Parts: sequence; structure tokens; C-alpha cells
Amino acid sequence: MSRTFNNLLVTGGCGFIGVNFIRYLLRETPFAGRVINLDALTYAGYAGSLEDVSREFGNRYIFEHADIRNPARIAEIMDKYEVDGICHFAAESHVDRSIVAPDDFIQTNIIGSYNLLQAARERQERLVLFHHVSTDEVFGSLGETGYFVETTPYDPRSPYSASKAASDHLVRAFHETYGLPVTITNCSNNYGPYQFPEKLVPLMILNALEGKPLPVYGDGRNVRDWLHVRDHASAVWAVMERGRAGGTYCVGGRNELRNLEVVEQLCRLVDEQAAPLPSGAPRESLITFVKDRPGHDHRYAIDCALLEAELGWSQSETAVSGFAKTVAWYLENMEWVNAVRSGAYRNWIEHNYAQR
Ligand code: NAD
Ligand code: DAU
Repeated sequence: MSRTFNNLLVTGGCGFIGVNFIRYLLRETPFAGRVINLDALTYAGYAGSLEDVSREFGNRYIFEHADIRNPARIAEIMDKYEVDGICHFAAESHVDRSIVAPDDFIQTNIIGSYNLLQAARERQERLVLFHHVSTDEVFGSLGETGYFVETTPYDPRSPYSASKAASDHLVRAFHETYGLPVTITNCSNNYGPYQFPEKLVPLMILNALEGKPLPVYGDGRNVRDWLHVRDHASAVWAVMERGRAGGTYCVGGRNELRNLEVVEQLCRLVDEQAAPLPSGAPRESLITFVKDRPGHDHRYAIDCALLEAELGWSQSETAVSGFAKTVAWYLENMEWVNAVRSGAYRNWIEHNYAQR
């Protein structure tokens, strides 16, 4: 069984993972339909990340500036393009922001997802699949051992993860109650091109490049599992094409690292690939331990054996190969960095770090 889609609605397609997913889908798979990218262009959305795709694919790539908090706009777009598949990325995604200002997370991640589910349900006869992109953070925090799997009980601990957990529950409820064809993926930390520099990897690369302090929360011993974003895109597409209806799949990189190890690796890579700092000091000297994130989850780790066994998916990058390519991408794409840094996002960073 392999699903086909003629008119695929991708929400949040101007964000980090959405951009990489659309690039992967159009350039690297036999997908022959249209992509309709619905994005509100919040501080984290930059339509310019897909300018080349728009030129290359003409009317197979359509951008609709719209907000999932607006049910009328969702209905209009779904009817206008006869949408038969949905891949739902749109969300407020940054944990630190959710701690400072949770409201947008509730409105977009919960109410917005509900609006999309309702619109899908009202057009269920032509809907092949509603795919929901979620996070491993819904499972809470691990100790030094053990892994999250598809059956791990939910235990979200930040406003962000609680809002994503709520949306996962709604997606499952629409499947069980109304028979909506759905799939869900819960993924670990992504890194790679086009990630907004509020997240650990791009923030550290750019601060290291510019000789700014590298703020490591707490003692830096928290563990994350790192997955290259292209590997996430290929997992999402595998599940959309061949995943069990109603099924959930955990997606991970099998690349567990402590935050301090990540920052040290990135420093070494920037030292290798960029001009030295004026002082001649190694970039590791910029590491600065700062106040910990409230409720900071200690460890995330994913066992993605189900996805590997059922759908034959596997990662193609390790953190070693993927981090090196990512550092190179940022050094070569400073124009993109400057474009996304100007705007509301910049104000957030300055405000956030001024408080530390
Ligand atoms: P991002 O913050 O980079 O991008 C989010 C996109 O959604 C932006 O383009 C933004 O403009 C858009 N958006 C936000 N609110 C919207 C609204 N109300 N209506 C329409 N569009 C809206 O996020 P990301 O890192 O690309 O994450 C994408 C999805 O993947 C999210 O659902 C996130 O929870 C999930 N996820 C992310 C990671 C990760 O490591 N980044 C890991 C697992 C899961
Ligand atoms: O696990 C999946 C999740 O990964 C996604 O659902 C989220 O959308 C995504 O933002 C990411 O969440 P994290 O909180 O893990 O990512 P972030 O890059 O913000 O932080 C990674 C780790 O690094 C975390 O332990 C906090 C720490 N950190 C982060 C920043 C921005 C620092 O030590 N210093 C920093 O400046």
C-alpha cells in the first residue's frame, strides 16, 4: 500500500522543518502533485527560504499566507485547491518562548490544530490522510537510561510540550471518533539548514562565528537526541506514504549528546571552517554557563525501531557528518541569516538574552 496525493497542504512550510520537507518532497521523491504551503509568517516563518523552489516548480508549489487560527481561511484554501492530504507542521516551536509567553502556543498548537482537524473532517470524503508532526517532548523527561517508544505515557512538562500533547490527543480523538485517516510522528531534536537561530545549534554556530558568548543552560549535562532535518523529512514522507492509519511512529537520530558536547563540537567545527577569532583564542573559550531553563527536561532519547522495522526507514547522517555540513551551510548562507535575523525575531533574542 502506498498513498498518493494530488494536492498536499503543508502547514508551517516556511519554518525550519517545513522548508526542508518541501525541498525533499519536490526534489528527492517521485511525488507528482501540488504542494500548497499555508503559513502565517510569524517571526519564525520566512517565505524567502523557498524562493528557488517557487521558481523551479512553478504552479506545483503554491504559497498561501494564512493563519490556522482562522477557520474560514483554512476552509477556503482546502476547497480552492481540493486538498486531499495534509502534513501539519505549523506550530509555535520554541520551549523558551513558551515559558515566557504561552498564549500563542495554546492558540496555534491547540486551537489551530483543532481548526485544521475540523476542516479535514468536514471534507473527509476526499481526504487521503492528515499527518500530524509532533515531538518527543510530549513524553516528558528521562533519567540516565531508557528510551521513549510509541507506547510511552504522555508526561509533558513545559507549556510547549503540553500544547503539542493536547494536539496529539485531538488528532487521535478525531481518528477514533470520526474515522479521520491520521498518522502521527514524534521526533527528537532536528538540526540542519534553515533553522532559526533561536535554537541551540544555529545559535551556537553564529555566536561562535561572531565571537559572542555561548550561553549553556545549567551545567550543560542535559541530553538531546540529534536528527538531521533531511532524515526527519524522509521519515515523515515514509509514514505519509506507507504508515498505518491511526498509527504513531517515533523518529530519532540514535545520536545522543550532552548539550556541552554539542557546543564543544560546534566550536571545533567553526574553528576549522572559519577565520580565527581576532584574539586567536579557540571558540570553546566563549562558553558561558547561564541560569538554567525552568523545568529543563534532563534527557530525551528515542527508540525508533518500529519505524525502521515497519517502513524500512533509517538515518543517513550521524551528528559528526551532519554537524559539519550544517556549520558549512550557515557559513555559506549569511545572507539568509541576516534576512531572518531582521524582524520580530531579533527583538525576541535581544530581550531574552538581556534578561540573563
Ligand atoms: P518553526 O518554528 O521553525 O516553524 C514554524 C512555522 O509555522 C513557521 O513558518 C511559522 O510561520 C508557522 N506558523 C506558526 N504559527 C502559525 C499559525 N498560527 N498559522 C500558520 N502558520 C503558523 O518550527 P519547526 O522547528 O520547523 O517545527 C515544525 C514542527 O515540527 C512543529 O510542529 C514542531 O512542534 C515539530 N517538531 C520540531 C522539532 C525540532 O527539533 N525543531 C522536533 C520535533 C517536532
Ligand atoms: O525534542 C524535540 C524538540 O527539540 C522540538 O519539539 C522543539 O520544537 C525544538 O525547539 C527542540 O526543543 P529543545 O528545547 O530541546 O531545543 P533548543 O534548541 O531550544 O534547546 C536544546 C537544548 O539546549 C536544551 O536542553 C536547552 C539547551 N540550550 C538551548 C539554548 C537555545 C542551551 O543550553 N542554551 C541555549 O541558548
